Amino acid sequence: MRLVITGFKGGIGRTSTTLNLAARIAERRSVLVNDQDPQCGALAWAALSDQTPFAVARASSPGLFDVEIVDMPPSMPIKEQMPDADLYLVVTTLDAASYTVFLRTVALLTEQGKPYLVVANRYRPARGEQKRRLAEEPLLAQAIVIRDRAILSSYYERGTTIFALEGKRAQAAQAEFIALSNAIESMLKALKRAAQRQAKKASSLRKQRVSRHTQKKLTPSGRQA
Ligand SMILES: Nc1ncnc2c1ncn2[C@@H]1O[C@H](COP(=O)(O)OP(=O)(O)OP(=O)(O)O)[C@@H](O)[C@H]1O
Ligand SMILES: [Mg+2]
Repeated sequence: MRLVITGFKGGIGRTSTTLNLAARIAERRSVLVNDQDPQCGALAWAALSDQTPFAVARASSPGLFDVEIVDMPPSMPIKEQMPDADLYLVVTTLDAASYTVFLRTVALLTEQGKPYLVVANRYRPARGEQKRRLAEEPLLAQAIVIRDRAILSSYYERGTTIFALEGKRAQAAQAEFIALSNAIESMLKALKRAAQRQAKKASSLRKQRVSRHTQKKLTPSGRQA
């Protein structure tokens, strides 16, 4: 499975989402974080760490890991070419400037028919603008919300993730990443079911065409002409 963490704006939380989600998934499966950002936020974090619960590299390793999570740079890819993925996570914060760029990211994915899940990061309910946007914007209706939390800033310099930390604050942050990981799983299952339905439909259409074609070649008595 390949997940691409995107959002064309800087500083919205792609790397935080990548690392903490990777830690959650790594509890059960082998994970590679593929750091495609030239600023190397994930690789720099790994250098601060004694032991990471998942691999971090600047490349893919097809077949070696159960899950690959690609941390993308804060820009539109060259020639608007998004890397392949089973699912794209579009991270945004809820201020107007970030949200405008979020809309561009979503527009490109939609244009290219790529499935995505929205992560509304650094949510502060006390900020009226954020609360209103989250409640009213249809594109945020299914978003997974990660609140603005000190622990989601301090984990980085410790070279750890929130899943290695203890206490109520860590648990509250972990719950949000568990919800994110569950939502990813549900969406991937739904996509798989939809693909199977489509394949079945295509196969039955093919069979119908073949049977019509064969019938045309048959005489009314059913014998070959
Ligand atoms: N939910 C959160 N609560 C508090 N701080 C956060 C949260 N998410 C991210 N941050 C902090 O915001 C800053 C930017 O986050 P991060 O580096 O993950 O974003 P990015 O989109 O990868 O940025 P860049 O464009 O530099 O790659 C970091 O200092 C990070 O610790
Ligand atoms: Mg980053």
